[in-house]
Amino acid sequence: MTLEIRDIEGPLGADVIGLDPLVRMTADDLRAIEDAFCRRLVLRFRDMPMSAQELCDFSRQFGELQPHIAKRYRHPDVPDVVLMTNQDDKGNFDRVGAERGVGWHSDLAYDRIPAKATLLHAVAIPDRGGNTKFANMYLAFDTMPDRLRQKVDGRFARFRQGGRLALNQGIMEPGAAPADVVHPVIRTHPQTQRKSVYANPYHTVSIIGMPRAESDALLDELFEWCAQERFQWQQVWRVADTIMWENRSAWHSGSVDYPLDQLRKFYRTTVRGTATVEQREESRLLAIEAA
Ligand SMILES: [Fe+2]
Repeated sequence: MTLEIRDIEGPLGADVIGLDPLVRMTADDLRAIEDAFCRRLVLRFRDMPMSAQELCDFSRQFGELQPHIAKRYRHPDVPDVVLMTNQDDKGNFDRVGAERGVGWHSDLAYDRIPAKATLLHAVAIPDRGGNTKFANMYLAFDTMPDRLRQKVDGRFARFRQGGRLALNQGIMEPGAAPADVVHPVIRTHPQTQRKSVYANPYHTVSIIGMPRAESDALLDELFEWCAQERFQWQQVWRVADTIMWENRSAWHSGSVDYPLDQLRKFYRTTVRGTATVEQREESRLLAIEAA
């Protein structure tokens, strides 16, 4: 069966059909998938049941894997795989686990070298709800009013896990919080060279070189623009679906709108991307912010 890429209607997304995830991809297939990924930002592979190890092996073909910041969520046998589940070891609802990833963000934006891609594989899902939403940040940038674009383009921001609202701190081991990092507010994609909005509500703390109140107001305005429904598509999960999403040019958000007594379990891998600023430049920008 030959590989087929079928665009999903909407601002992003494509189905990849005819791929066996347990067989190493040919160079042509990998190129076709990477091209579709850069163009459509979210790829969906349906009806491909995978173990944690198989997801790990499949994901590695797209680059180096980046383990999760919270060690307790790593898969015990396959540490590059993160367990995303809404239940603790005893089968009780785990609110901290369930609320991870709820709110617009891109993965590992609090890391100096943030993620290129995330792959999420559905092992168990509730009978309704729990969709994952995605938003196309190229489109948010391309359609942005000039007045707003001029205020954010060329700016840098400080990022950390939980951002200015200190969200979702329960996932961190005590004392494990990494130092703040710097990324551009508007990022140029390393492969497509297109610009997109990289700051996100979940991880961005402040715009560097701007008084805090002004930074907060500008981030509010920017995020309100980016959260428009016309930039979005949502995945309605089926067991054995795998979604691979862009973290460099798309936002995503989970939701906890499903029956909480039902198990929701995923395997996740994260593929490392590239730094957005040189280390010396980052130190200089953090010093401006501290002054
Ligand atoms: Fe996420």
